[in-house]
Amino acid sequence: MKKKKVVSVLLTAGLVLSVNGVYAQGNGGTPNSNAASAFDNKIIKKISADNMYNTIKLLSEQPRTAGTPGELIGAQYIKSQFEKYGYETELQSFPIYDVVRDNAKGVVEIGGQNLNPYVFSGSFSGEVTADLVNVGKALAGTVPDTVKGKIALIERGDITFVEKIQNVMEKGAVGVIMYNNTGTSNAFGQASYGQDIPAVGITRAQGSALVEQLKSGPLTAKLKVSGSGLVEKQSYNVIAKMKPQKNKDTGQIVMVGAHHDSVPNGPGANDDASGVSAVLELARVMSNMPIDTELRFVTFGSEEKGLLGSYHYASTLSDAEADKIVAHFQMDMIGSKDAGGDNKANGLIMYTIDGKKNTVTDLASAAGARTALGEVVPYGQLGRSDHQPFHELGIPAALFIHSPLEPWYHTPADTIDKIDKNKLQETAEIVGAAVYQIARPDTPALIHSRVAPKPVDYDFENRPPGA
Ligand code: BES
Ligand code: ZN
Repeated sequence: MKKKKVVSVLLTAGLVLSVNGVYAQGNGGTPNSNAASAFDNKIIKKISADNMYNTIKLLSEQPRTAGTPGELIGAQYIKSQFEKYGYETELQSFPIYDVVRDNAKGVVEIGGQNLNPYVFSGSFSGEVTADLVNVGKALAGTVPDTVKGKIALIERGDITFVEKIQNVMEKGAVGVIMYNNTGTSNAFGQASYGQDIPAVGITRAQGSALVEQLKSGPLTAKLKVSGSGLVEKQSYNVIAKMKPQKNKDTGQIVMVGAHHDSVPNGPGANDDASGVSAVLELARVMSNMPIDTELRFVTFGSEEKGLLGSYHYASTLSDAEADKIVAHFQMDMIGSKDAGGDNKANGLIMYTIDGKKNTVTDLASAAGARTALGEVVPYGQLGRSDHQPFHELGIPAALFIHSPLEPWYHTPADTIDKIDKNKLQETAEIVGAAVYQIARPDTPALIHSRVAPKPVDYDFENRPPGA
């Protein structure tokens, strides 16, 4: 019994161990270290690329833009599939704010002259007439109290537009006129939800002239914004949980994610119906397996609007719950015929936020060598997907993607006919085998990344995704 435990420790470590001088994997002495173990086979033999392909076909019938009926239809379908497989499911809604600016018009009238300003994206619509107060760059702690009830004249630069507006609003400003820090354009700037004062941009030359004029006396401006604002919509995360048997519970959680929203002008077959299809297929395959670790499958909304769904989900985790999550596997764009170029591992790469190996990359790279792909998977450094918020919580996380990207990325041509079943199969097998290595009852609990499996030999690649 004791001996068995030692073997399983090494198994968790993804190591090839030497038995009497013969290299063998810890699975009962299989002579080929790259062979799938009996444990792997329990998962990978059941994974069907046809199932994944059909899911992508269904989801990519229409765009799934965040906050639109297309997203909700997709999310409800995903939830119903999770339910069918026996998971505890939740449709977690969160508000998002879409910019309205079709008829946006801005006026800044000073001394009878209109500066024809640019309306900040998302600016509140309203009209104020008040004195201008030069507040420099409106950095925190530098905004004078004299801006109360006045219009803040702000220089662009150093901190975000939203932060600048916030800093002057906190001092009671009733409007924002921001001048550029370079060039001749006035077209820049954005405001955020709750910033209920008009905000516009003017050129550097216009702003510098106002700064000069203010030195010799007060200036009154009429600032008016119309046809602009932010409209609240609902977006969704779909969450599926499977708890282990009570007497077999390590208290740990392993997560597998993808994003179900698409960009507005495309059906998002590869980005990211492909990832969703693998999440659903792995949920199906794992639903009847013995586990000692909670499985959590999540598809996020509003990834394309700035990782909003995954940040929202992360914000709902208590510290105690986040501490239990030992790994997050994110699949985003895992099925394109035309991605990956001539790179090894069929172009598959695991991107981490810090460019370092972690539990996820160690387990998955080793799994690559034991499954359909038949080779280790390299890793690289990149954000741009939902692994980011998990990394920020200190959870080992990686993005699985074929890089460089296909030419159809974020275009209406991201359609089902560009999907390669082989790539889907390879990636799902890798993630499935790695997840099951953590979750199956015979392997000991991971104590986070500190005693994470020892790295197998796989390389860092400086591979930009290309778009
Ligand atoms: N699927 C992409 C992620 C991606 C794009 C990874 C390019 C690697 C290379 C994702 O859906 C996406 O488009 N993300 C946005 C960033 C996000 C914060 C809005 C992007 O990369 O522009
Ligand atoms: Zn994506």
